[in-house]
Amino acid sequence: MSLTAQQAAAPPVSVRPVLEGRGLTKFFSVKHGRGIFAGTARLFAVDDVSIVLAPGTVTALVGESGSGKTTVARILAKIINPDGGEVLLDGEPVSGRPRSYARQVQMVFQDPFASLNPIHRINYHLLRPLKIHGLGGDDVNEAVEDLLRRVALEPPQQFTRKFPHELSGGQRQRVAIARALSVRPRVLLADEPVSMLDVSIRLGILNLLADLRDREHLAILYVTHDIASARYLADTIAVMYAGQVVETAPSARLTDHPAHPYTQLLLSAAPDPDRVEPPNLAGSGAPPSLIAPPSGCRFHPRCPHAMAICSTTAPPSVTVDPGHAANCWLHVDPSRRVPSNPEVVAANAGSTSMRPPAAPPPIGTTQMRRTEEDRSME
Ligand SMILES: Nc1ncnc2c1ncn2[C@@H]1O[C@H](COP(=O)(O)OP(=O)(O)O)[C@@H](O)[C@H]1O
Ligand code: SF4
Ligand SMILES: [Mg+2]
Repeated sequence: MSLTAQQAAAPPVSVRPVLEGRGLTKFFSVKHGRGIFAGTARLFAVDDVSIVLAPGTVTALVGESGSGKTTVARILAKIINPDGGEVLLDGEPVSGRPRSYARQVQMVFQDPFASLNPIHRINYHLLRPLKIHGLGGDDVNEAVEDLLRRVALEPPQQFTRKFPHELSGGQRQRVAIARALSVRPRVLLADEPVSMLDVSIRLGILNLLADLRDREHLAILYVTHDIASARYLADTIAVMYAGQVVETAPSARLTDHPAHPYTQLLLSAAPDPDRVEPPNLAGSGAPPSLIAPPSGCRFHPRCPHAMAICSTTAPPSVTVDPGHAANCWLHVDPSRRVPSNPEVVAANAGSTSMRPPAAPPPIGTTQMRRTEEDRSME
């Protein structure tokens, strides 16, 4: 995979966001402890995350496994409800999940093998959403072939009658993308869309997403553990750690001048863009428990630069360059690095990380993946 592709600039401020998550927070109720000490605990999967998706732009959400990326994507898709914060479409809060929302915001899942029902032909998978949403016009078969052409499965007639098991992983992921496109969405939420594919075909899918951004002006969220592929594809990168966004910047800026020690760690572990495995951060500690996350900066137990204040007080979001923000005490003037200093709090009013966590919600239920994929179409 070549990583020398020219990066597009971050979207101009004047580009109006199509989809926005503001202060998103999500808890899960999980079993905790063993034997007679077993009980239920709340796991803080996503804590006060804000993210903006603009038309014609790819925004990457990057972080280790368990950092909350998929949960953010599922909240934005409205497959699950947040316990705090809100989702806005064209600047308006969306309540429930109206069918018009499902049409405009589509999700592509990580596993192309599981996301297509093996008993149905490709034709069925693409016809179904067209019928549900009354799309496709007079000639739905032509609409299906057109979808296959848009994801470069040509000639389309070779694919319509096939079953998913007759396709390669990359072809299946293209069908999954075609299915998402069938309802003419404005936003595509792609959750690790290449991580289960052979290295040799990953670039093709990333280029397809770039093409959809440029040709069809889609707003794309690209969720990945791989910061190298994020740099290749995305205009903007948001780095997540332990349920929180710790750094955001235009992608070239973030990867050339990482301001947060966690981003620096991710980059140091990603020297090989053709790597098959997730980044190897062995030797640098492990992500914390999200049931009892560390106080102060959640990264402090692993941070080589940790100071006393880091373990007591959450760092503010600091603008280190226009469009580039990092939540780290290193970027706060030493004279203002005072635990719970009211001046620092005031200077960073609006910073998400200094707000106390929202009150825990009632214990909820979780949903099975198959159900999510079905619901994402309806
Ligand atoms: N349905 C669920 N029930 C309980 N815990 C969950 C559920 N979904 C996610 N989690 C937990 O939330 C945290 C964040 O998960 P996830 O959003 O999948 O992270 P990522 O996509 O970055 O790997 C993890 O600790 C995960 O185990
Ligand atoms: S706030 Fe402190 S512990 Fe957290 S990343 Fe910055 S220096 Fe490291
Ligand atoms: Mg995930």
